[in-house]
Amino acid sequence: MFRTHTNGELTLKNLNEKVTLSGWVQTIRNKGFMIWIDLRDRYGITQLVLDEERTSKELLETAKKLGREFVIKMEGTVIERTSKNPKIPTGDIEILVEKLTILNESQLPPFTIEDETDGGEELRMKYRYLDIRRNPVKDKLIFRHKMAQKVRNYLSEQGFIEVETPVLIKSTPEGARDFVVPSRMNPGQFYALPQSPQTFKQLLMVGGMDRYFQIVKCFRDEDLRADRQPEFTQIDCEMAFVEQEDIMNVFEGMTKVLLKDITGKDFPDFPRLTFAEAMQKYGNDKPDIRFGMEFHELNELTKGKNFKIFDDAELVVGINVEGIADYTRKQIDELADWVKRPQIGAAGLIWIKFQNDGVVTSSVNKFYSEEDLKKIIEEFGSKAGDLIFIMSGKADKVRPQLSALRMELGNRLGLRKGNEFAPLWVVDFPLLEFDEESGRYHAMHHPFTSPKTEDFALLESDPGKARANAYDLVLNGNEIGGGSIRIFNRDLQSKMFDLLGFSKEEAEAQFGFLMNAFKFGAPPHGGLAFGFDRLVAILDGNEVIRDYIAFPKNNSGRDVMIDAPAPIHPDQLAELELKLDLKS
Ligand code: AMO
Repeated sequence: MFRTHTNGELTLKNLNEKVTLSGWVQTIRNKGFMIWIDLRDRYGITQLVLDEERTSKELLETAKKLGREFVIKMEGTVIERTSKNPKIPTGDIEILVEKLTILNESQLPPFTIEDETDGGEELRMKYRYLDIRRNPVKDKLIFRHKMAQKVRNYLSEQGFIEVETPVLIKSTPEGARDFVVPSRMNPGQFYALPQSPQTFKQLLMVGGMDRYFQIVKCFRDEDLRADRQPEFTQIDCEMAFVEQEDIMNVFEGMTKVLLKDITGKDFPDFPRLTFAEAMQKYGNDKPDIRFGMEFHELNELTKGKNFKIFDDAELVVGINVEGIADYTRKQIDELADWVKRPQIGAAGLIWIKFQNDGVVTSSVNKFYSEEDLKKIIEEFGSKAGDLIFIMSGKADKVRPQLSALRMELGNRLGLRKGNEFAPLWVVDFPLLEFDEESGRYHAMHHPFTSPKTEDFALLESDPGKARANAYDLVLNGNEIGGGSIRIFNRDLQSKMFDLLGFSKEEAEAQFGFLMNAFKFGAPPHGGLAFGFDRLVAILDGNEVIRDYIAFPKNNSGRDVMIDAPAPIHPDQLAELELKLDLKS
């Protein structure tokens, strides 16, 4: 037997009990006449003690051989500690060691395996299994597990059936590139890994499953960011005989259950913004509404004062930032430089200060009198001490630019608090977006998304204006889920492929199976998918999803621990009848 208890379990209640414990040696304090060892496992830390008075010489000698991360088994008696540690549950006791076995030795670990570590990111990724021994990493994986359990319970109770869909499939367009897998049995042919189980879940609805879910790996070959991994997990769902409202109710309900579990609070119904409103108010289709700084459009108030930049702009728009009127010129210039960086690309940044002494001044005093500026201040409802930032230009450029500044200020001013949650739905997305590069329409969500019935006519006259029955769930400025009501009519689906520039042959080759299924009584259906990694990270007060994935990829899409991707053996290539002809 390796253990009678875990290392997080023993308290004064167990005083004088004989126990057996196993685990890793976290620290050893050797005072010569006395040795303390912190023994760690997933459940906690228990202090072991040996001393010259009570411990045999032989045992002391074994203890002296121990090093950090050795795996040991020990037997001993629970005794009360003289100096207690209130920070850990086992802090009142220690174990007087009577028998000690070294189960496995360990090399000196490359970084300290404690809550605060000296290991850099890359090193910890390389030795991820050691990093997982640390509480901050381990706790995140446990948190993820708990959320997955809650989700499974909730959806099962709501009548959803978890069905596994295949991983070796054909391209499912979700807007990224596919990862492909060559087929040995079908030389020259490739599977694609699913960017999502989209078409399969729709086929499950045709199959009459009615309510489907799956906690499922998805694969997208796209550039990495803090909230993106090439392989990530979705809570994927689909429902038959439903309208948008039914789907939103079920998943708002699920999100409320998770939020209640974390905060102890009942959340009121989630606010909803249309895509158009979100863009107008926040310049962003996934606004963080934990803080204000809403956009105000200022064309009317700024025009006709000979400030050509504003007069010529399609949109003049600003935000009011509370309490930072004391920002120095240097601080403001630094922000202006920040928005002018190529990543954001703003042309400039105009400011108006409502100073604490009531004086109103601005970077455009030459054009606007104090009277003019006061009108703008009224528009925002600014208070003394506030600072207004204004940008101008083409609406579809300037909105995201001002949004980036708003988010940056939200971060800098500590307004994006991890333990505050502000969910909302964004609805009525455009069906299509025009891609300048290819000169074609792309599906804004995916090609299976249904246009709004009232916008059907627009598909002929002005497709770019048609809105979709599509919705995103946004939490703290992150898109944590998205879905839509699907097209279930063959002709409409065919029309959609046309609009997206697929020839009949291409549509048939890629989606013939779906179109075929639609011949056999496809029910009205719709669904959504949550980004599970994102959801978990945000619910835990973070935004970096990598920390919530046991074995994540680094920024170049590499697993530095197993060193993948890697070349394959020429024999394997030959078997696949593939020849590499890499242009270096
Ligand atoms: P969508 O493409 O919006 O929809 O994806 C759903 C959710 O998945 C998360 N997500 C990601 N998370 C981590 N890394 C990534 N690379 C990544 N890409 C997406 C996001 C996103 O909201 N089949 C549709 C859903 C449907 O219509 O039912 C789909 O996949 O949180």
